Amino acid sequence: MARIFVTRELPGAGLARLGEVHRVEIWPAPLPPPRADLLRGVAGAEGLLCLLSDRIDAELFAAASNLRAVANFAVGYDNIDLAEAERRGIAVGNTPGVLTETTADLTFGLILAAARGLIGAAADAREGRWRTWEPAGWLGHDVHGATLLVIGPGAIGSAVARRADGFAMRVLFAGRGDDLAPRLAEADFVSLHLPLSDATQGLIGEPELEAMKPTAYLINTARGELVDQSALRRALDRGSIAGAGIDVSSPEPLDADNPLHGARNLTVLPHIGSASHATRSAMAELAVDNLLAALDRRPMPHPVTESRRPDSNRGPLHYE
Ligand code: GLV
Repeated sequence: MARIFVTRELPGAGLARLGEVHRVEIWPAPLPPPRADLLRGVAGAEGLLCLLSDRIDAELFAAASNLRAVANFAVGYDNIDLAEAERRGIAVGNTPGVLTETTADLTFGLILAAARGLIGAAADAREGRWRTWEPAGWLGHDVHGATLLVIGPGAIGSAVARRADGFAMRVLFAGRGDDLAPRLAEADFVSLHLPLSDATQGLIGEPELEAMKPTAYLINTARGELVDQSALRRALDRGSIAGAGIDVSSPEPLDADNPLHGARNLTVLPHIGSASHATRSAMAELAVDNLLAALDRRPMPHPVTESRRPDSNRGPLHYE
């Protein structure tokens, strides 16, 4: 029986299954464990089940001399120092696949919300600004028939593209080595589906936003750091693009007084791409499967390794 530290309560039955086999300590609070508590929690633990908001770095590994397995409750793993884990022989796993469709649903929700101004219109209805049916009120842009650029043609990007087919959209893709500028200039919606790495950080900055049409929308359900947020704020204020919908930001959470919130035509969601009951339960099951396998000295069903990092030439430049 191994000792396992889990950094948050999770939905579904996965953790109970883990508790039948191992001694599980679950951080009881709704907010992430402060650093000192995280380091205390992993001291002596053989397994760690963590979230994307937990920084799993060399300092943590040094504080966890018994650690053999880390299961990230996420498909992304930019919060984990994979090179250091590999150097120490610690297995790392993620939760791919089960969140693909749910994240694609949310992406499409943001496309519709941004293009049709749904959030502002709902606030107007609720707050007494709906006085009559207005011929020129609440005008947005059509989603059907528009051109969508998917940057990062992996599983989630492809699932978004399948939804776009149903809206009779023209879909363009951009992946490793593709020239972004001509595609950005053609797109009505630009949707990001890349993991965060040295190669993708700041991928969308001032030149890329300026290359977009003034009627186009930027959608980000991947990682906040892919976008230069100051450049985004300026582009929205200047009208260089029509609007943006982001489920991710840097930092997270984005404080209520962050200047980005003041931008015109920006919808910010609190990183809820995979947040459906079924998907979050399925992610817990996968994370538990990863831990159980590694602690039993079997390969994790969903391992991630340094060689699969997106900034290594062999790694994917998209979310699987
Ligand atoms: C969410 O952002 C994830 O990586 O699963």
